[in-house]
Amino acid sequence: MKSKSEILSDKREQALEGGGEKRIEKQHAKGKLTARERIHFLLDETSFEEIGRLVTHRSTNFGLDKQKFYGDGVVTGYGTINGRLVYVFAQDFTVLGGSLAEAHAEKIVKIMDLAMDNGAPVIGLNDSGGARIQEGVVSLAGYADIFYRNTLASGVIPQISAILGPCAGGAVYSPALTDFIMMVEQSSYMFITGPNVVKTVTHENITAEELGGAKTHATKSGVTHLTYDNEIELINGIKKLLSYIPQNCEDEAPMLDYEFQESEKREALETIIPENSNQPYDIKDVIYETVDKDSFYEIQKDFAENIVVGFARIAGRSIGVVANQPLFLAGVLDIKSSNKAARFVRFCDAFNIPLLVFEDVPGFLPGSEQEWNAIITNGAKLLYAFSEATVPRITVITRKAYGGAYDVMNSKHIGADMNFAWPTAEIAVMGAKGAAEIIFKKEISVADNPQQKWEEKENEYAELFADPYNAASRGYIDEVINPRDTREKLIRAFKMLENKAVKLPKKKHGNIPL
Ligand code: HXC
Repeated sequence: MKSKSEILSDKREQALEGGGEKRIEKQHAKGKLTARERIHFLLDETSFEEIGRLVTHRSTNFGLDKQKFYGDGVVTGYGTINGRLVYVFAQDFTVLGGSLAEAHAEKIVKIMDLAMDNGAPVIGLNDSGGARIQEGVVSLAGYADIFYRNTLASGVIPQISAILGPCAGGAVYSPALTDFIMMVEQSSYMFITGPNVVKTVTHENITAEELGGAKTHATKSGVTHLTYDNEIELINGIKKLLSYIPQNCEDEAPMLDYEFQESEKREALETIIPENSNQPYDIKDVIYETVDKDSFYEIQKDFAENIVVGFARIAGRSIGVVANQPLFLAGVLDIKSSNKAARFVRFCDAFNIPLLVFEDVPGFLPGSEQEWNAIITNGAKLLYAFSEATVPRITVITRKAYGGAYDVMNSKHIGADMNFAWPTAEIAVMGAKGAAEIIFKKEISVADNPQQKWEEKENEYAELFADPYNAASRGYIDEVINPRDTREKLIRAFKMLENKAVKLPKKKHGNIPL
């Protein structure tokens, strides 16, 4: 007869086997790791403490009573990443396809509750066939229990979702409620309805990869924030992301040790802006030169490329960067870029990460496509997000700051703390060409040489407004600085703002234009 300790040991061992060797081999053959392997690579060595290893489902439907696996298709627990506490759940596709039902959901809910009570991030490693079909409505209830907690946890603790296999149906809504979604090229996909249903309903022929693969969500929908070539890269991406963000909303943004150099001047910044103000340049060159070396971690890099967002460090301090990108659509604001930036700004604000904005924006994108798809509402999201952000906020206008976009892009008027402009800044209601055409329309039309007159008036307007000095004279710009001094100024200004404490008017919650 086995001793009690041997019985325990057998059960523990059995739990480690997941759905069995054959299914594990199948998982590996697809280039995928198992749930336990993923946790092993994610957490600091020996730090993982499993919770609920011996949980099983209690269903007898459709022969499920003969298919009981310890853990019920999800490995849950806590551990550390670079010494910091995190809670993790990893769905085990080898057990009933990682499908979610009552017991499986209860395990996830338990660690989410612990994460909330103890103020630490939750990382979900998703790999699941969705609701466990045999268990019926309890599976749906389980999802809803998770969605509810995702929502309660939003803005309290960081939530990160890695999609490492299928994620279909309503199952996509838990990741969608979290702060960051990460996907792996060619092995993960997310959709509300799969290719078969699409074909039946709309007669559209489309593969799973095209419909909801990593590339699709990185470029077309913007659903995923980060994509990777393989699972190990994704796991390293989670660790990197965490290095910029605090444990919870009460915590400070992380600060690394930084050794100041004799000079923090960056001469290369002097030559980035082209002579001709209509020529594009890469705003990322400005970001790379300004922030700590190799510290910029771009988010949603292939979506709405006319705006760049990402985390960085400045003298060791974690910051969020939002920058118009003149290389794409001249850096114009449109629906997608407004949404992308607004969500990023709100994340940074929720988690006490100061914001740095580089501005070079010719305005909002005109046209019926934009108007009919509600650029008004969507542009207002970014305006709202900046306006309600109480973290330290600094703007550097490198070139164009035209029209409503000047107001929206973290202007002084909507609560930015420090606004700098380079001498190349053009702060005006609109570009000189368009302005001259409107306000001197009559004069131009009756002139002997209308083209010459137009250019004359364009120059007149440009001379008067296409610089930072009008705005500086009114205090809308705190200081006009030489590009080379930008980094120094920012280091000092962020230090000066580090104890900023602003409270919004008391309210239940605002009503962001969704
Ligand atoms: C129970 C499931 C399952 C599910 C897969 N399995 N999905 N068991 N419920 N939802 C089991 C399979 O029976 C199989 O068991 C094992 O998992 C692996 O599945 P395969 O089909 O062999 O794997 P693969 O060929 O890789 O295909 C994976 C798949 C496919 C694309 C995910 O299994 C599939 O289409 N599953 C159904 C997806 C689905 O329609 N889910 C419900 C969505 S609705 P064995 O014993 O052979 O290993 C939903 C509602 C949520 O989720 C609503 C929330 C609000």
